[in-house]
Amino acid sequence: MANGLDDVVAAETVLSDVDGAGGHLTIRGHSLTELAGHWRYGQVVRLLFDGFFDELPGDDELEKAIGNARVEIFERLQPMLAELPALDVYSGMRAGIALLPDGESLADALRLIAAPAVLTPALLRLGRGEKPLTPDARADHANDMLRMLSGTPSPALAKALDTYLVTVCDHGLNASTFATRVVTSTQAGLTSAILAGLGALKGPLHGGAPGPVIEMLDAIEASGDAAAWLRNEIARGERIMGFGHRIYRVRDPRADVLKAVVRRLGTRNESGRRLAFAETVEQAALDVLKVAKPQRSIQTNVEFYTALLLEAAGFPKEAFSNVFAAGRVAGWIAHAREQQATGRLIRPQSRYVGPVPDLVA
Ligand code: COA
Repeated sequence: MANGLDDVVAAETVLSDVDGAGGHLTIRGHSLTELAGHWRYGQVVRLLFDGFFDELPGDDELEKAIGNARVEIFERLQPMLAELPALDVYSGMRAGIALLPDGESLADALRLIAAPAVLTPALLRLGRGEKPLTPDARADHANDMLRMLSGTPSPALAKALDTYLVTVCDHGLNASTFATRVVTSTQAGLTSAILAGLGALKGPLHGGAPGPVIEMLDAIEASGDAAAWLRNEIARGERIMGFGHRIYRVRDPRADVLKAVVRRLGTRNESGRRLAFAETVEQAALDVLKVAKPQRSIQTNVEFYTALLLEAAGFPKEAFSNVFAAGRVAGWIAHAREQQATGRLIRPQSRYVGPVPDLVA
């Protein structure tokens, strides 16, 4: 039995396929490269939701509905946010989402799509002693998220964030998606399912990795010797963040998409300098991992360039997992609806290996 359920097929899905040997990601019949940078996040939400909600409108109407949901979330939750005890920005977002109705309608789903995008900038602003900014219902989702953080973004930055949200919208039966499907299979509502996804996403082996990538880059920059720093980490039994994947045995295709996005933000500015440095660290890490773990192909994963992109977009590293959740929530909801349609409780078995009771008469 594999502790990590390796190679176990636990669901049939029409939503996405991760080809770990070939390094391809398919989302509802489209390759990642067809979608990222070409479709807006709102359009991809529609693609994922198609067939899972009866009353689904067209792209433009759905994007307007997401905009209205952002305003509704802000009006509903903003008065309570300042009252939350001093939580980190991820826990604050999760606490806000926990206050939403636990329904199954499209309106419930759109509130959940809107919530991370509204709560993250609001909590970050409150944390810096600033007033949260009201959403603009007519704005593009990614653009509005950045505007609520620090004012109207450049079109290039808004496009970069939009491409990021599309890139991470869904990814097979990863840990957080599996968690949402398990909770949905008990017939709990969408909010419960999303809260389960958020819990699983938080850990550093999953969506919590990009913050530590920044810490690693800073530590390596300070040390001045990437290879020595990386070798020392591995000798201490640590993992190199932003590398390795359960399914991909080749480079994660999302890493290249996001690296190209960061490159487009400029090569001569600060993000260009950071990118050049990150590329040298990436090569050093690949070389060190090849020697240290020759039995396994450990390649760059999505989180390495996520860290650079979100840093360039102005998010502090403690909010990176929030932004990941803002993209992945669409996949979670679609998977929850797909699971619900099976009507079957997910309930695997464990093998008991503990002591047996004395059967004394
Ligand atoms: N750095 C160092 N060693 C790594 C590693 C990494 N990033 N990723 C895997 N390994 C090593 C393990 O230490 C283990 O070595 P061992 O056999 O000598 O004990 C071996 O590879 C297999 O580890 P396992 O946990 O079974 O691999 P996995 O493929 O299931 O792990 C991850 C997948 C994502 C959990 C793992 O690669 C990891 O921890 N990566 C760093 C965190 C990260 O970037 N997460 C985001 C994923 S998108």
